[in-house]
Amino acid sequence: MKMKMLVAACMTICSIQLNAQEINIIPEPLQMTKGNGIFTLPKNIAINAPATANELAEQIATKLKTTTGAIVSISKNKASITLDIIKDDNLGSEGYELEVNAKGVSLKANTNAGLFFGWQTIQQLLPASIYAKTLQANVNWSIPYVSITDKPRFAWRGMMLDVSRHFFSKEDVKVFIDDMARYKLNRFHWHLTDDQGWRIEIKSLPRLTSVGAWRADRKGKWMNITTPALDEPKTYGGFYTQEDIKEVVAYAKSKFIEVIPEVDIPGHSMAMNTAYPALSTTPNYPYQVNAGDEFMDWEGVNGHVAARIDNSLDPSNEKVFEYLDKIFSEIAPLFPFEYIHMGGDENAKNNWQKSANVQALMKREGIKNINEVQSYFVRRVQKIINSKGKKMMGWDEILDGGLSGDAAVMSWRGIKGGIEAAKQRHKVVMSPNDYNYIDFYQGELTAEGKVYRGLRMKTTYSFEPIPEGIDPNLILGNQANQWTEQIFDMRYAQYMTWPRGMAVAETSWSPKEKKNWSSFSKKVEGQFEKLDAAGVRYSKSIYDPIVTTEQRSNGDLVLKMESEVEGLDMYFTINDQMPDNYSSKYTAPVVLPEDVLSVRIISYRDGKPIGKYLNIPIEALKKRAVKVL
Ligand code: ACM
Repeated sequence: MKMKMLVAACMTICSIQLNAQEINIIPEPLQMTKGNGIFTLPKNIAINAPATANELAEQIATKLKTTTGAIVSISKNKASITLDIIKDDNLGSEGYELEVNAKGVSLKANTNAGLFFGWQTIQQLLPASIYAKTLQANVNWSIPYVSITDKPRFAWRGMMLDVSRHFFSKEDVKVFIDDMARYKLNRFHWHLTDDQGWRIEIKSLPRLTSVGAWRADRKGKWMNITTPALDEPKTYGGFYTQEDIKEVVAYAKSKFIEVIPEVDIPGHSMAMNTAYPALSTTPNYPYQVNAGDEFMDWEGVNGHVAARIDNSLDPSNEKVFEYLDKIFSEIAPLFPFEYIHMGGDENAKNNWQKSANVQALMKREGIKNINEVQSYFVRRVQKIINSKGKKMMGWDEILDGGLSGDAAVMSWRGIKGGIEAAKQRHKVVMSPNDYNYIDFYQGELTAEGKVYRGLRMKTTYSFEPIPEGIDPNLILGNQANQWTEQIFDMRYAQYMTWPRGMAVAETSWSPKEKKNWSSFSKKVEGQFEKLDAAGVRYSKSIYDPIVTTEQRSNGDLVLKMESEVEGLDMYFTINDQMPDNYSSKYTAPVVLPEDVLSVRIISYRDGKPIGKYLNIPIEALKKRAVKVL
């Protein structure tokens, strides 16, 4: 009897052990051969590293000491972990080779960046608890035998964070950077200015932050917010001092992440106009930094976006370019990376059109139409940015009216801007809203709350950054954008970013041929326990059914459900009662009877509830119905 219990206990433990050793690395490596066996980290871990990789060796040592409790030394003696800098053209500047066998862990790369990315892979091979920030007891710190040769598909593997719509402290920004690094993302695009706040100290223009960084405090739904009175205290906001910026840039650098600052001009400049109204074409307007209340006509006037309050800089005013010169003079030395992003998106030109000074500028410069005024502005800004030793990047609107020189384009309105830019031989970063806007709600609308539109992770994962017929050398890479109109804090930013950020990371790093939704989605589920250990918030919307409806010509409203991941059973009720796994199981489209008030749904896997409980009102189901003849 006792023996039987022992065997049963061992079977449980062994199966836990086996699960812990499942390999699920995101992004998928270029080449991987699984071995037969596991290497267990000893209580005394020696790390052998060349002097040039000492900083990384220290990072690894600190992590292992803190979380495993091992005694870790950096030593030239026989080591459990060996780091080597080698010369191997096949690995490029970010690739690595990892070998785990009975002798231990051997990690080789041409560069420290390569070693760092290899270290991210090692952590993903260790039990999930390695991501904990505190000592973890009773863990077998083992790594499966494996042989990996890996390098990224794209040099630009980006993620943008908007810190204007909501302010995130420098500590929050470091958390965002930590989360990026785990998945080998390497470009942090920092959206530092917008209508709702200017977030970077410019010493020669102090009002940008003393005035431009602050607005009336508002909760509630973006663009459904009451307009503050002019004299209402401006208590919400914040900004980064130049010392803060240096600290964050250095922090990112320690994780081999380059930082791209964005100053979004000429549109999206309400905060700047509030600080210095003379920079707008409506200098006498009683400006205040926008608090999330609607002031744009997005449907536009004559097909063009229009601003009821002028949030553009005046292209006919030389002072604007003097100020921009000061701004970029101070920004350029803070950011070692080669690009500065000047925004350029969604510039409403209705106030330019009304301005006698802009009309005079057009006459003087022989500018034929208002799009060319934007192009004139962009060229002037490009000159300033180039004069600071940097290249300019902008959203795809910078193509309007012509683009020149070494400017690079970030394609966000789908990929057409990217294609057009590449045809003109400009470099391109793909970040199409249809796939990579990870501010869009990610699961069932009625459970998540509306943010413009929905975007499932499966769709994000399906993106291919190199359009057919386009020179791949012009596509720098791929980027996800985290806009924060409706994100009030970093925990929620994490919820919106993960796991979709993993889809962007795999598209950015792994060869196209290695991508596979079925295995990727399983790996994502395997990552959840790692994020739990790391204390990272994430969404489990992949377990929520994709619920659609059809309105048939005979009046029938037909309910359909689809599962984003495999192995889910979807149960539902139409009688206003809580569902469980004894309720109707969805197997085929259902014609909803006339008086149904709501459909309540829950998904199960292996007999256990796994998805959110959904309660979708009939009005919401009717609203989303696709008409079918
Ligand atoms: C953008 O989403 N307006 C770049």
